[in-house]
Amino acid sequence: MTPMSHAPVDWDAVRSAAKAATEFSYAPYSRLQVGAAALMDDGIIINGCNVENASLGLAFCAEVTLLGKMHMAGYGRGHMVAFAATDQYGRRLTPCGRCRQLLMENGGPDLLVDGAPHPRPMRELLPDWFGPEDLPTAIEDTDNG
Ligand code: THU
Repeated sequence: MTPMSHAPVDWDAVRSAAKAATEFSYAPYSRLQVGAAALMDDGIIINGCNVENASLGLAFCAEVTLLGKMHMAGYGRGHMVAFAATDQYGRRLTPCGRCRQLLMENGGPDLLVDGAPHPRPMRELLPDWFGPEDLPTAIEDTDNG
């Protein structure tokens, strides 16, 4: 992926979009209402919430909802610039291991992920990651954004 220059990230906007998404969360089991939001390279922010299930292992994370919405909005890989997740109280959350894998493939190593004490790029959150290039036939770039 080629490095791109962007306007400084408005983290307050990304975090508040994440917190706003928690209102749509369906989390009757964990009671942790999670919202995730990503700033795209055109300035649009896309968010998502977690959705749990009585079959507990089927819960999907807020990041999954976000990524589905992102693809449905016409963005392919490599358009995410910054990402944040919060709970219903606005506390910052860093993505679980599975979501780091999802964010890496969709956002790339330069994607900035919110966290304490400061945002970090995906390359630091998931070094030595398994990716498309590790498959026998590397997938074509399906960027439709
Ligand atoms: N959860 C997320 O939505 N994103 C993460 O990165 C970590 C965990 C959700 C899944 C589940 O609904 C709840 O938080 C408790 O694990």
